[in-house]
Amino acid sequence: MPSHSVSPIAVAVFGASGYAGAELIRLIADHPNFLLRHVSAGRMAGQRLGAVLPAIGKQYADLMLVDGEAAVAEGVQLAFTALPHATAANVVAGLVRQGIRVVDLSADFRHPNLENYQAAYGLVHSQPELLQSAVYGLSEWQREAIAETNLVANPGCYPTSVLLPLLPLLRADAIDVDRIIVDAKSGTSGAGRAPKQSTLFCEVNESLSAYGLPRHRHQWEMEEWAHNLGGGRTIAIPFTPHLVPMTRGMLSTMYLHGEAPQAWHGIIAQQYDNAPFVRVLDEGDLPSTASVSGSNRCDIGIVVRDAHNAVVVSCIDNLIKGAAGQAVQNANIMLGLNEQAGLSAMGVWP
Ligand SMILES: NC(=O)c1ccc[n+]([C@@H]2O[C@H](COP(=O)([O-])OP(=O)(O)OC[C@H]3O[C@@H](n4cnc5c(N)ncnc54)[C@H](OP(=O)(O)O)[C@@H]3O)[C@@H](O)[C@H]2O)c1
Repeated sequence: MPSHSVSPIAVAVFGASGYAGAELIRLIADHPNFLLRHVSAGRMAGQRLGAVLPAIGKQYADLMLVDGEAAVAEGVQLAFTALPHATAANVVAGLVRQGIRVVDLSADFRHPNLENYQAAYGLVHSQPELLQSAVYGLSEWQREAIAETNLVANPGCYPTSVLLPLLPLLRADAIDVDRIIVDAKSGTSGAGRAPKQSTLFCEVNESLSAYGLPRHRHQWEMEEWAHNLGGGRTIAIPFTPHLVPMTRGMLSTMYLHGEAPQAWHGIIAQQYDNAPFVRVLDEGDLPSTASVSGSNRCDIGIVVRDAHNAVVVSCIDNLIKGAAGQAVQNANIMLGLNEQAGLSAMGVWP
């Protein structure tokens, strides 16, 4: 679709009553080219959007949430699927069959290597034939492929925060790939809105905890795409995620070893010189989750420790660059729109 097109693009959001879905609706409402036409939910189907999303303004409050499996509204050209993995796969397949372009936020189409999907999620994939046509939507690295596809697999939040700083260093062969350690932290919205004991207020408040060990499912995704986009080597990315008592935000600290860490700031900064949503801080400065909250930005800081070691820290808003924001960025690229359309908001601070 040419960028000068003026007619609005009718959009559907599947999983509109969840956290990623809510963020999609906020971004779509401000998007100059999108018109929200269809919203779906599971348990909350049958209710008004305004009744289940407390922050929504008047614009779309009266749209009715239809059952997730129901036929999509007529005229829809683009769908975002923000559903649990496994549920998403069948919905996505139905949409693709109808000729609707899809950005899927679940993990179902992120692994061209089916064995990795099965190992990470313990599932047999219900739509394996679609895997080869899906494009992994790490926007800054996959623009050309995204522009050519009908199905984008939006990356996971942890993989986005880790791959953005790591890939330039892998491509430059600058780091020792056997000595990467990643220590990452996420706010509780990363676990979704569906109630579960581990994210109850009393379980997370005043507490910090590691989880997902010995191998969180996002480790498969990071390693598969570090291999695919980082130069083709087999790379181990041991990674420990932590749950932090805050609503949103993700911080990944990477301990890296190599010959000339003084050069790494320049390598990463040069890679993202023209990338509107990746900001490399001045050497020695460190990012914080508060400064990217509400924006589609990834902020990266690099501190050299000694002649062979540096610490690289990246921050994203898990619901925006880690989910809905990157999904809109990918839809913009797929449809030939301005990549920044609907995403120009700065962070919310303080
Ligand atoms: N949260 C994040 O930071 C984040 C980041 C990156 C990717 N993601 C991915 O995005 C997807 C959504 O995550 P989320 O955090 O938004 O989860 P969530 O808050 O739990 O929302 C899930 C949504 O899916 C709907 N749903 C659940 N089961 C369904 C079914 N069987 N049929 C139809 N609809 C169903 C839910 O509707 P009801 O509530 O009405 O049942 C809800 O709207 C997941 O695949 C997740 O891995 C999330």
